[in-house]
Amino acid sequence: MLLTVFVLSATLVAPSSPRETFAARANPSATGDLASNPPLLVNISKLPRTVEVNLTAAVTKLSLQPGVVSEVFAYNGHVPGPTLDVREGDRVIIHFKNELPEPTTVHWHGIHLPFESDGSPFHPIKPGESKDYVFTVRPGTAGTYWYHPHPDHRTGFAIGKGLFGAIVVHAADDPLPRLTEKLLVLSDNRFLQDGTIDFPDPASHHGGIDEENGREGPVLFVNGQVLPRIQIRSGEVQRWRVVNSSAGRIFRIAIPGQTMLQVGTDGGLLEKPVEVKEVLLTTGERVELLVRGGARGSSTVLQNLPYDRYSPQTRPADWNVTRDLLTLETTNLPPVTPPVIPATLTKIVPLDTTKATAVRTIIFGQGIINGHTMDMARVDVSTHVGATEIWEITNIVGMDHPFHLHGFQFQVLDRDGVKEPYLAWKDMLNIPKHSTARIIVRYDDYPGKWMFHCHILDHEDHGMMGVLEVKP
Ligand code: C2O
Ligand code: CU
Ligand code: CU
Repeated sequence: MLLTVFVLSATLVAPSSPRETFAARANPSATGDLASNPPLLVNISKLPRTVEVNLTAAVTKLSLQPGVVSEVFAYNGHVPGPTLDVREGDRVIIHFKNELPEPTTVHWHGIHLPFESDGSPFHPIKPGESKDYVFTVRPGTAGTYWYHPHPDHRTGFAIGKGLFGAIVVHAADDPLPRLTEKLLVLSDNRFLQDGTIDFPDPASHHGGIDEENGREGPVLFVNGQVLPRIQIRSGEVQRWRVVNSSAGRIFRIAIPGQTMLQVGTDGGLLEKPVEVKEVLLTTGERVELLVRGGARGSSTVLQNLPYDRYSPQTRPADWNVTRDLLTLETTNLPPVTPPVIPATLTKIVPLDTTKATAVRTIIFGQGIINGHTMDMARVDVSTHVGATEIWEITNIVGMDHPFHLHGFQFQVLDRDGVKEPYLAWKDMLNIPKHSTARIIVRYDDYPGKWMFHCHILDHEDHGMMGVLEVKP
């Protein structure tokens, strides 16, 4: 039987192969809690087009893993932290206070903003100190982003302790119909029996493996919940914004027997929806998916499929196990008429390769970039505002390394010589073992020193990072 797929307006070409049926489950595991979006940061400003919020990082005790209490680091007492919800053009002021026993920063991953507000290791905030982060949300950048600490050498630890939260930028004029939106912040963690978050001594065998592999944990969370439920009506289409906020795990997500419609990525909407069976979501990466309800009363799951990012020496024993992330239940309510999804969502102007004034060669070794580790006093790439450049990033080792650039969204030109199938704005790009990708970037404004790094945070913390200086 062919099931109703997404209803697209106009002429979007649908793949012609027959689709599999929904995987109706005999024993739906309808025991988890309903998935709840993280709370929103409260806007205390009375001014129009202004979002002013208070954000505090502090030590607290929370039950992350059901049944035990852990000492965590949390933003405003929540893991994940509250969502920063803004509109294009908004002026954003974040009054941040560091109540942690160690220096921190808040990095607004993917947001185009002034250097002083990037929260990079150049601007640490000492324990007890405060800082206002100020930026204006650039028009045309509606999408899903996230924030996390970025202190020198401690980012992976701080995220593992619980510091991460989502940012949603709404468009002035969203082409998608009004749909129920779900934010899905994916993370993982590892605990000792008493609930302590497990950070082995770096000098120990396990500590060494974490450092080499990038720390992962067997407990998978969606918005801090383990295997929550999402309810949907038959015929209904929901918009899911998915963030991979884990320090080392690459998620490969799929709903068995069902396709999803990918409408967005790191920097916002794609030009046209793309029907996908699964999505590889590297660390720090985001995706927007449209997901449809199945037959009344049916139930399925969003799964994490195996993905071998590892080198054989440190590959976890359970790497090839498929894991359920959440249950998707179609309610017994009468079906609704599926909404019509526009076949064209936005226009992305391709950056012009003939304007590129430099080709940068970036070589990812194991824990090093172009042969060395990070030195904050060194500039690895020097350029100026207004320049367009191509970066050729090659991973010469047998482990994936996800590339991230601060401050500027880029477009992928090709991967191993294969032209990228569609235009998109990205700030994360997985560079699989022994492969090369080329990206193009334009430094439109905001001079400063911007980081580029591997987003496996143990690698980044141990120096797999460089400095891009954009001069005025
Ligand atoms: Cu999400 Cu420099 O990081
Ligand atoms: Cu970033
Ligand atoms: Cu890496």
